[in-house]
Order: sequence, then C-alpha cells, then structure tokens
Amino acid sequence: MKHWVRKLLRFKRPGLVAIGLLFVAACATVGTTVTSKEWTSRATLQSQGIVKDLGGKRIQERYPFGGFGTDNFEQWPTFAAGSPAYPPPKKGQMPAGIKGDPKKGQALMRGPCTACHLIPDAAVWPAGNVGPDLRTIGHRGLTDAHLYQVIYDARVVFGETSPMAPFGASGMWTAQQIVDVVAYLQTLKGNPPGVPDKVTDDKQWNPFTRDVVKPDYGDPLDLTANPVLGLADSVAVPLWRKPGPKGQQSCAGCHGNIGAADAQRPLGVIASMAGVGARYPKWIARHSRMMSVEDFLAVHAPETSGHEMPSQGEQNLTMSILVKSQSNGMPYQIDLKDANVAAAVKRGQELFQRRVGQRGQSCSDCHTARGGGNKFLGGRFLADVEKDAMVNHPYWRTAWQRPIDIRIRMQWCMTPLLANMLPGDAPEYADLETFLISKQTQRGDKLLVPRISH
Ligand code: HEC
Ligand code: HEC
Ligand code: HEC
Repeated sequence: MKHWVRKLLRFKRPGLVAIGLLFVAACATVGTTVTSKEWTSRATLQSQGIVKDLGGKRIQERYPFGGFGTDNFEQWPTFAAGSPAYPPPKKGQMPAGIKGDPKKGQALMRGPCTACHLIPDAAVWPAGNVGPDLRTIGHRGLTDAHLYQVIYDARVVFGETSPMAPFGASGMWTAQQIVDVVAYLQTLKGNPPGVPDKVTDDKQWNPFTRDVVKPDYGDPLDLTANPVLGLADSVAVPLWRKPGPKGQQSCAGCHGNIGAADAQRPLGVIASMAGVGARYPKWIARHSRMMSVEDFLAVHAPETSGHEMPSQGEQNLTMSILVKSQSNGMPYQIDLKDANVAAAVKRGQELFQRRVGQRGQSCSDCHTARGGGNKFLGGRFLADVEKDAMVNHPYWRTAWQRPIDIRIRMQWCMTPLLANMLPGDAPEYADLETFLISKQTQRGDKLLVPRISH
C-alpha cells in the first residue's frame, strides 16, 4: 500500500470510537428501532438510533453530534410514518406579579436566541440573522404581553409558518425565563434611541454585514487533496474485485472490471456504472420504496456477492463513492415522470415542512428563503433548497475527518431540534432525499462525488 494511503487510513474518530464502545457495553439490554413498520433496517448500530430502557431511563443511542447525548425525545414528532403531528399554536398568558431580571434575560438569550437574532452584546459571537435584528426592539413601544407571546409561541403572532420555535408552549422555557427575556428586550432602545448600537467596528460580528467564506480545500477529485479517495481506494476498490465469503461472484464478476482513472473518475472507470448515480433515488418495486445508491447496496451486496454493506458503514460509504463517481459531471436525472417517484417527491416535500422534535421546527425553517436559507444560523451559512445543491454525498467532512452520507446529515440536523432520529436507511429519509434531488434534477445540477466540505 502506498505510504499516503496508509497515513490517511489512520484518520481519527475519537467520538465515534467512544460511542462504539458504549454500544458494545449496552448490548445486553433489548432495544427497539424507531422506523416505519415495513422496513427492517440494514444500517450500522450507530445509525439505527435504537431506543432502550437503561434501568428505568429511556435513551436513544446516536452519534455524538456536537455534544448531544443519548436523551430520548420519543414523545415528540419524528419523520417516521404515523408519528403524531406537532401540537397547534397556543396562546400564552404572561403571569402577573413576577418581575423580570434583564441581566438574566440577556444571559438566557446567548445561544438559543442569538443563533437567529442580533442583540447589542459583544460577548455574542457569532450571532445569526434568520430572525430580525433586535437591537432596537425596546424602542418600538411593543407591550410586554406581545413580546411574551412571541417567545411563548411565535406562531400565534406571525402565523403557522414562523421558523421560530415555541419556547414556552413546548415547555422548553419557564414563564420566569420568558419574563426575564422580555425585561431585557425592553431595555434595547438603541443609541441614540431607534438607531442600532454598533458594539464593534468589526463587520464580521454583524451577520447582516458578515462575509460568506467558502473555504478552498483544493481539488476534491485529486487523490492527494481528498482523504476519502485514499480510503475508497483501499476499501471499495479491492472489495469490488473480491469474491464473496462462500465463493459468490464479485461485483466485477457481474458488472465488469475497473479501468484506468480519468480526471472525473479518480478511482478508475467502471463503464457499466456510468450514469447510475444520477438516476437515484429510484423506485425499487421489489421493496416498494425509494432507494438511494447507499440503500440499494445495503441490500444488493449481501444478496449477490455476499459482502455485508450496512448503511453508513465504511464499505457502504466508500462503495457508494466508487459507484456515484462514475456519474461525475452528469446532471441529476431522477425519473420525475414515474408515478411512484412523483408520489415520493410529494411525501418528501411534506416531510420537509413537517415540524418535529420538542422545538417543533421543520427542514424548511432552516433551508428555504422564508426561514434561514442563505442566512446565518449562528456562524453557519445555511443552504437554500431552491438554489443550492444540497445532495452531493457521500463527501469527506473535514470537521469529523470521516466520510458522511446525506442521511447522517439529516440525522444530525434533527438532533438540535430535540427529535429522535430514524435509522439511516429509513424509507422516510429516502423520500426526503428524493424531494431534495427532484430540485437538483429540475435545475440540472451536476454530480460531484466525493466533495470535501466542512
Ligand atoms: C430559528 C430562528 C429563531 C430563533 C432560534 C429565535 N427566533 Fe425570534 N424570530 C425568528 C424569526 C424568523 C422572526 C420573524 C417573525 C417570523 O417570520 O416568524 C422572529 C421574531 C422575533 C421577535 C419579534 C421581532 C419583531 O421585529 O417584531 C422577537 C422579539 C423574537 N423573535 C425574540 C426571540 C427570542 C427571545 C428568542 C429566544 C428565546 C428567539 N427569538 C429565537 C427566528 C428565530
Ligand atoms: C450475481 C451478479 C451480481 C453481483 C455479484 C453484483 N451485482 Fe449489482 N446488479 C446485478 C443485477 C442483475 C442488477 C440489476 C438488477 C437489480 O436491480 O437487482 C444489479 C444492479 C446493481 C446496481 C444498480 C444499477 C442500476 O442501474 O440501478 C448497482 C449500483 C450495483 N448492482 C452494484 C453492485 C456492487 C457494488 C456489487 C458488489 C458488492 C454488485 N453489484 C454485485 C448483478 C450483480
Ligand atoms: C435548525 C436549523 C436546521 C434544520 C431544522 C435543518 N437543518 Fe440542515 N443544516 C443546518 C445547518 C446549521 C447546516 C450546516 C450549514 C453548513 O455547514 O454550511 C445544515 C446543512 C444541511 C445540509 C448540507 C448542505 C450542504 O451544502 O452540504 C443538508 C443536505 C441539510 N442540512 C438537510 C436538512 C434536512 C433534509 C433537514 C430536515 C430533515 C434539515 N437539514 C433541517 C441547520 C438545519
């Protein structure tokens, strides 16, 4: 093996390794997977999101996304078919006789509110701008009761489509906490009154003037720039040629050999796989569901060659990269005229707008122009489903030093909403992915797998 490949293979995944050990230790207890009833997951254990009882405490096992633990949110809506709808908008009554503490209110806003709103607080860095600038909110003569209702359940004031979570109605915040924040907001008059406080001259502090920085990681199709190519070269390429454990045909035996690489297909050219990645997700009649390449391989590989290829495992991620890279440069072209695909697009669009988790937010709250699309959530600039190619997966994620598929992204986007995730290969995620790729098909976005991204 070439030296650089060996070096790249030692990529570190401390958090994931630790969680892996936890799963082994917890194996003795019996768990259930939260998914639609008709699909038995073929995903890795970490990807299944098993809910189990640990001595009276129910937990959901998941990836250690940004410090989110194993808290179980099964009482709140998820994307699973049959999961209940989020409770409707609710009026709140500001309790009489409790006094707000503006200092406490300011501290409470750092994080949960400043992810979307700018306040005149130099300690807040970076604030987001999904919601309006609040630096002069106290100058507008709004009543305390009005501000209380906005925080308690913004849908009552701004309508059902408000991207702001109902902090009071969901039970996340107490009446006292909301009253403290109202007291703080009323102090925000501006300086002079009505003119936003500047706080600092650094234009990066203010999300309305901050630059959108797109880091340059080099050419993603260059073996020396993209670590996942080295991994795929040492995992998926030999696996493609390897007969099964019981002497079954190899992938190459049925689909042909891997030829020399070219600029678009750095892992080598497999003629029979050209264009395949661009046509997925596909309706697979035998399973009555939409499947991505990743979903398909998790079932097809063990059935044909005998190789296990669980969703989100290293073999599945790298084999998907090998297959999808054969379509690099080609436009997405899923079959939107197929009635089953059209139905999945519709289901996916509904799921995209579905409020999930205790926070009761939807994908569209962060990824459309009405919500956070092309705005900052904290320091992160959000993709807009109508404009941006949201699926070119799996890719190499620099922050985790590992490849990720679109489903890990979905599982991860759900966690801060305090929602239980579904297994990576859940049919509901396939419908969501179909909706996203229907947009990319309509726009003619071209495949580029594997990318490098933060
Ligand atoms: C996910 C982003 C998001 C978060 C988090 C958020 N808000 Fe909002 N907020 C909005 C949006 C968007 C609006 C504009 C109204 C609308 O479109 O629903 C808004 C409106 C408001 C308004 C009314 C502003 C006006 O000009 O009338 C206030 C006050 C407010 N939010 C306070 C808060 C507080 C306090 C928190 C934390 C408890 C918070 N928001 C958390 C997105 C958010
Ligand atoms: C015994 C022969 C056989 C083996 C071994 C085999 N396949 Fe297949 N493969 C097929 C056939 C036949 C189809 C098309 C029918 C179907 O969808 O099942 C197919 C379909 C596919 C498709 C989807 C093509 C499309 O246009 O939708 C992919 C991707 C694929 N195989 C990858 C693999 C990989 C990777 C391996 C090795 C792990 C493998 N196959 C092993 C026979 C095989
Ligand atoms: C509370 C806000 C929030 C919600 C709700 C949310 N996301 Fe995200 N999403 C993010 C953030 C933050 C990022 C990272 C942005 C970045 O790194 O550029 C992101 C990134 C993504 C990306 C990667 C985009 C890219 O350019 O690579 C995809 C795909 C995605 N989200 C899909 C979804 C889907 C599907 C849902 C619903 C199941 C969803 N998100 C819900 C906040 C959210």
